[in-house]
Amino acid sequence: MSHLIGPEHFRAVMGQVPTCVTVVTAMVDDEPQAMVIGSFVSVSLDPPLAGFFCTTASETWQALRRAEVLGVNVLGEHQIDISNACMRAPEERLDGLDWSMVDGAPRIAGTSAWISLTLHQVVDAGDHEFALCNVVTMDVPDDPLSPVVFYAGAYRRLADVTND
Ligand SMILES: Cc1cc2nc3c(=O)[nH]c(=O)nc-3n(C[C@H](O)[C@H](O)[C@H](O)COP(=O)(O)O)c2cc1C
Repeated sequence: MSHLIGPEHFRAVMGQVPTCVTVVTAMVDDEPQAMVIGSFVSVSLDPPLAGFFCTTASETWQALRRAEVLGVNVLGEHQIDISNACMRAPEERLDGLDWSMVDGAPRIAGTSAWISLTLHQVVDAGDHEFALCNVVTMDVPDDPLSPVVFYAGAYRRLADVTND
C-alpha cells in the first residue's frame, strides 16, 4: 500500500514530528567527518544502546560506518549556525568550528549533550539504514542547556509551560 503515500504527504506529516538536531562525527583516515542527524534516538538502557537513521545515498554515512568511534553532538538552541555549517560540503563541515578530539571522536564545544558510540549493528530500513550503537561515554553540562528542535521544516526553540 506504500504507493498511496506520496513523498510530499509523507514529509508534510512527518514534519509534525519534532526532532532533535545533532551532529554525528567521527575521525576516519585522519579526516574529521560530520553529518547533521535529526533521527538520533535512545534505544536501550541495559545494555546502553542508541542509534540513528542514515540515508543510503550519503557518502558521509559510508565513512562514518567505518569509524571506530562515533560522536553525537546534541546542539543547543544557540547552535543553529553549527547545524548550518555542517550542511556545507563534507570536507568543510567542521571548518572554523570549536571542536576537539574527545573519547575518540570530534566533540563540538558548548553542546547540550555529548555521547560517544561504537557501531553495534546496521539494520536495513528502506532508503535508510539504522545505525544501532553501543553507548560508550555520555556527558552533559553542569547547567543544562536548552536544545534546538527541528519542526515543520524549521529550527525552533522550546518555550516553558506550566506543568501543574
Ligand atoms: C535538521 C536536519 C536533520 C537531518 N537528519 C538526518 C537524518 O536523520 N538522517 C539522514 O540521513 N540525513 C539527515 N539530514 C540530512 C543530512 O544531514 C545531509 O543531507 C547529509 O549530509 C547528506 O549526506 P552527505 O554527508 O553524504 O552529503 C538532516 C538534515 C537536517 C538539516
